[in-house]
Amino acid sequence: MTKSRAAQFLASLALLAMVGVFAGDALAQKTKGKTRAATTKQLMKGLVAPTCGDLKKLLEEKEINWDNVGVKAAVLNEAGYLLLDDGRCPDGDWAKSSEAIQKASAAILEAAGNKDADAANAAFKKLTGEGCAACHKVHKN
Ligand code: HEC
Repeated sequence: MTKSRAAQFLASLALLAMVGVFAGDALAQKTKGKTRAATTKQLMKGLVAPTCGDLKKLLEEKEINWDNVGVKAAVLNEAGYLLLDDGRCPDGDWAKSSEAIQKASAAILEAAGNKDADAANAAFKKLTGEGCAACHKVHKN
């Protein structure tokens, strides 16, 4: 091996090591934040998914309980911020879908205030499409 080839080889090793570190870091960020205990999976299972399921059921009722719709939308709104906290967010797709959760849940809250089922359903579609599904498509195995 010539001297410059050896240098090239070492440089590519260093690059590979760096890529490994970055990939590992991104993975750690999306499965858990940097300092808090809850994993993303636990937040999904314990907070995000059950709240979204409850909200869906509430919106399917004939007599919609708008107070309860507001409670679920408010909790999901906070979840949209939690998903970005503590260094959990690995990239722009994650950020965009979390912000979609924030925005759509705020729209559901507003619809609940107006007792507007059409607006609430339209916002719920955005919540699951631009929020849940968009993030899962990129980040959920
Ligand atoms: C910003 C990204 C993001 C958003 C938004 C998001 N999720 Fe998730 N979700 C994930 C990731 C990442 C996982 C995989 C976690 C793991 O297995 O470590 C996951 C896993 C899940 C799971 C499986 C949990 C389990 O038991 O393994 C459910 C159910 C779920 N999400 C529901 C939802 C619902 C419903 C919404 C929308 C209201 C939503 N998620 C929004 C990222 C997101």
